[in-house]
Amino acid sequence: MMARPIFHNAFCDLLGIEYPILLAGMGVGGRATPPRLVAAVSEAGGAGVLGCSGLSPEETRRRIREVRSLTDRPFGVDLLLPVRIADAPDTRSGVREEIRRRFPEHAAFVQTLIQRYGLPEARPADETVVNIEYAKRVLEVVFEERVPLFAAGLGDPEFLLPRARAQGMKLIGLSGSVRNAVRQQKSGVDAIVAQGTEAGGHTGTVATLPLIPQVVDAVSPTPVLAAGGIGDGRGIVAALALGAQAAWLGTAYLVAEE
Ligand SMILES: Cc1cc2nc3c(=O)[nH]c(=O)nc-3n(C[C@H](O)[C@H](O)[C@H](O)COP(=O)(O)O)c2cc1C
Repeated sequence: MMARPIFHNAFCDLLGIEYPILLAGMGVGGRATPPRLVAAVSEAGGAGVLGCSGLSPEETRRRIREVRSLTDRPFGVDLLLPVRIADAPDTRSGVREEIRRRFPEHAAFVQTLIQRYGLPEARPADETVVNIEYAKRVLEVVFEERVPLFAAGLGDPEFLLPRARAQGMKLIGLSGSVRNAVRQQKSGVDAIVAQGTEAGGHTGTVATLPLIPQVVDAVSPTPVLAAGGIGDGRGIVAALALGAQAAWLGTAYLVAEE
């Protein structure tokens, strides 16, 4: 397939893709980025990213292999790496207790919502959550399966760099602030997703439009991917005009038909 030169840039060459458009890795128990969607985006010339946060190592491997069975083009895996690892609770109920202890006002607010709307109390299974042991096991799978691209939705991917370099895996860090983007750039990641507050979830408070050019200027020449509120071709062109080398789209793909 002939690439259109107007969109094909250095970041495309870095990843070996035709268009600078990525499907954001979205976790949500593996529901948001099924392997077929990931493969479809890669097949279309962008790069699909499997959101594997919350999946077991075995399920992560199964999904990576399913993507591989559907495309031989580059794709990625996204994980939320634990930020603080030393004293992280090991179980979901442990996490809930920790949240209640450390953020009593937030816990009380959630209780008022549960009562006002008659919602059932969430009863999570007491399984292992995202702690460092779990993350290491899933990361081992990502390396073993020689996934071409790894994105760290949270946490610092610096410790992965030597092994990633050795096997040609590209590393991307997600960041909602200039400060964090600069920290990631110094650690040597291949690209940075600047994620405006529109992206929701684990972002900062700066909106996409002002965040992207600031991050681009601060981390140049490291490529920046723009994320947050980009919904169509006009948004992608705007992101490129702001200096981003690619767009990282999440919500727009949630309406994709399986
Ligand atoms: C439902 C949903 C789940 C998400 N889960 C993750 C995740 O597991 N890891 C991650 O790095 N980012 C996650 N994100 C953020 C995306 O990576 C991305 O930055 C965001 O979707 C971009 O903004 P947009 O949704 O407006 O396109 C999630 C986003 C959504 C909407």
